[in-house]
This record gives sequence, C-alpha cells and structure tokens, in this order.
Amino acid sequence: MLSLLLFAAGVLAAPLEKRQAPSGVPDFALTYAPVAYLYSKEAYYPADIGSQLVNTQPQANYTPISNLSSRPLSLDNLDQLNAYGRGGQDVYLTSKDNVEDIPAWLRGAKPDSNGLTNGAVSSTVIVNNHGSGMVDVFYFYFYAFNFGGKYISHVIGNHVGDWEHTMVRFKDGKPQAIWYSQHSNGEAFEYRVVKKYNNGARPVVYIGNGTHANYAIPGDHDHAIPNVNLPQGLVEDHTDQGAFWDPIQSAYWFSFNASSQIFTSYDGSTRTNWLYYVGHWGDKQYRDSDPRQKDILDIDGSHKYTNGPTGPINKQLNRTKVCPDNGNLCIVRAILGP
Ligand SMILES: *[C@@H]1O[C@H](CO)[C@@H](O)[C@H](O)[C@H]1NC(C)=O
Ligand SMILES: *[C@@H]1O[C@H](CO)[C@@H](O)[C@H](O)[C@H]1NC(C)=O
Ligand SMILES: *[C@@H]1O[C@H](CO)[C@@H](O)[C@H](O)[C@H]1NC(C)=O
Ligand SMILES: *[C@@H]1O[C@H](CO)[C@@H](O)[C@H](O)[C@H]1NC(C)=O
Repeated sequence: MLSLLLFAAGVLAAPLEKRQAPSGVPDFALTYAPVAYLYSKEAYYPADIGSQLVNTQPQANYTPISNLSSRPLSLDNLDQLNAYGRGGQDVYLTSKDNVEDIPAWLRGAKPDSNGLTNGAVSSTVIVNNHGSGMVDVFYFYFYAFNFGGKYISHVIGNHVGDWEHTMVRFKDGKPQAIWYSQHSNGEAFEYRVVKKYNNGARPVVYIGNGTHANYAIPGDHDHAIPNVNLPQGLVEDHTDQGAFWDPIQSAYWFSFNASSQIFTSYDGSTRTNWLYYVGHWGDKQYRDSDPRQKDILDIDGSHKYTNGPTGPINKQLNRTKVCPDNGNLCIVRAILGP
C-alpha cells in the first residue's frame, strides 16, 4: 500500500519535461518553447554559434581587418569589431574557405534522434520582459550557411551565416501569439491555432530547405524575393517533417533590458559580448567580377551570393507588436495556413 502511494506520488511529482535552462529563466519559456522539423533533404543543419568565429575572418570592404586589439576572435570579444567599418555595420565575418568547396563546418550539426545538435550550441533564447505581465521570448536559430533556392535553374540568395527566429509573446505567463521569421519578414499566428508537439503545449515550426525560413505548417510555400516582383510559385520554400530539432536543448539563455539595451546571461557565466556586435555573420555579397557570383536578372536581389545576415541585436528585440515594425501590416492570423 505504502509503495503504491509512493509510486503514485512519484508519478505525480515527475516533471513533465526535464528542465533544460538555467534557473531564473521563466518556466513558461520552456513549457511553450517551439520544436522544429528540418526538411528531410536539408543539407545545412543548425550550427555552433562560436565556431563561426573560428571559421571566418572579419573583413570591411573586402579587406581583412588586421589590427584587432584582441585575438583570437571569440564570443567574449566580438564587439571589438564595432570599432571598424561604420561602427561595425560594414563588417563581415568572411569564410576562410571557398564556400563552393562546401567545407564541413558549413553543413552544421544534424540533430540526433532526441533533437539535440550534439556539440553545437545552435540556438539562443532572449527574454524581454516589457512589464505589466507582457514578456516576449525570442528563440534564435543559427546556421553556418543559407542555400537560397532555385529560380528556374539558377540558385539565388546563398549566404554564409543565417539567423532565423520565432518569438512567443506571453501575457501573465500565457502564450498569446507566435512570430515565424521568413526571409525579410515572416508571419504571426495566434498561439491557440498553431500545431503543438505531441498535442501538448509546444508550437511546431517547419523549417524551409536551405533558407531556414520558419513556417507553421508543412508543405510548399511561395515567397517572393524581397523587393523583386516575380510570379508566384517560381521561388518556393519546401518544408516537411524531416529531422526533429529541439533547439532549447543546446542554447544560450539571456534576458534583454530594452531601456538599458543590456543583455544578461541567466547562468551568470555565458558571454554576452558577442550579442552587441552589429556586423554580419557571413561574407559580403561577392562582387560581380568574382567567378563564384552569378546575377541572372542583372538586378539587385537576384544574385547567387548575397550578404551574410546581422545577429539578434538587429531583429527588433523590443517590439510593440508580435511582428517586427518594418512597414508591413502585422496580421496575427487566427487560421492556420502556409
Ligand atoms: C534542398 O536544398 C538543396 C541544397 O541544400 C538542393 O540541392 C535541393 O534541390 C533542395 N530541394 C528542394 C526540394 O528544394
Ligand atoms: C586599424 O587599421 C586601420 C587601417 O590602418 C585604421 O584606419 C584604423 O583606425 C585601425 N583601427 C583600430 C581600432 O586600431
Ligand atoms: C519597449 O517597448 C515598450 C512597448 O512594450 C515601450 O513602451 C518602450 O518604450 C520600449 N522601450 C524602448 C527603450 O524602446
Ligand atoms: C533596466 O534598465 C533600466 C535603465 O538602466 C533600469 O532602471 C532597470 O532597473 C533595468 N531593469 C531590470 C529588470 O534590471
């Protein structure tokens, strides 16, 4: 009888999921953390954030920055680059290898059967407490390379480095809405309508082949190249239920204070310096004279290789709405769709 009671109590007391974050991270940031499915034929998996600094060298104007005050470049000194190239804005972490040789580090780490990117910290969670019970939790996903996709038979929009994110907005600890980043914009949905992992609480994200754009449902997704009008359907993202990825299993955890613009690590020891770097996490768009570059339409936005992206600090961490304020209407969809 006693053992039966103890057994029952044990079952009841067992946590639903093992806590994967340092203390101080709100429980709801874990309970409602998105899980992801990569495309079944994905070639560029989530990658270790710090390794990007080892495999690249900083450049401004296609010229290596040679007088760094602190070497080697690390997550603990990356913001020194803000002293170069227009306050860091023109700094590009440029691949030491020819990307067309596809060095192994570009391919990242395929999540194991539990969804862990073993040996690669490929995600960063940033919590912005707006006060009055409103909290935004950003889940950033990092990849060493973005394959842009094919337009007819030409590849457009490859770049070294790729930062994507989902953001869940909470009110009094309850999830309200979720933002899925896609290319230069994205989509927002009410939390209640999105797919949940194992019919539980965690939203599911489907990640586009190569581009790593985030979608709420699997299948094909038309997307236009930013600022270029192309017929719908010519440039598509493809998503399906390929490799399962649980980003928070290998993540850095920070809070962000919007008024002081200060990042603080929850564990008190993870480096925050790199979060202040405003430059790019990959190569600058190759010149038209570069043999690797192709430009089929001879207009901006149709290049095979484009600029590497900027990091989390440039993704509007203190938003009024669940969407970034980029001039597009913020539609919080109440019906699930592509
Ligand atoms: C998926 O991406 C790879 C490059 O990583 C590409 O070769 C392949 O054609 C893509 N597949 C689809 C269906 O888009
Ligand atoms: C680095 O060298 C460049 C070129 O010589 C110079 O313009 C710049 O001021 C130097 N920057 C620092 C931070 O030392
Ligand atoms: C951050 O966002 C809130 C809206 O939730 C706004 O009231 C506040 O002024 C913003 N803070 C800064 C520093 O922009
Ligand atoms: C955020 O920064 C402001 C301004 O520096 C400070 O007054 C406030 O106490 C900070 N908030 C938290 C939660 O640390």
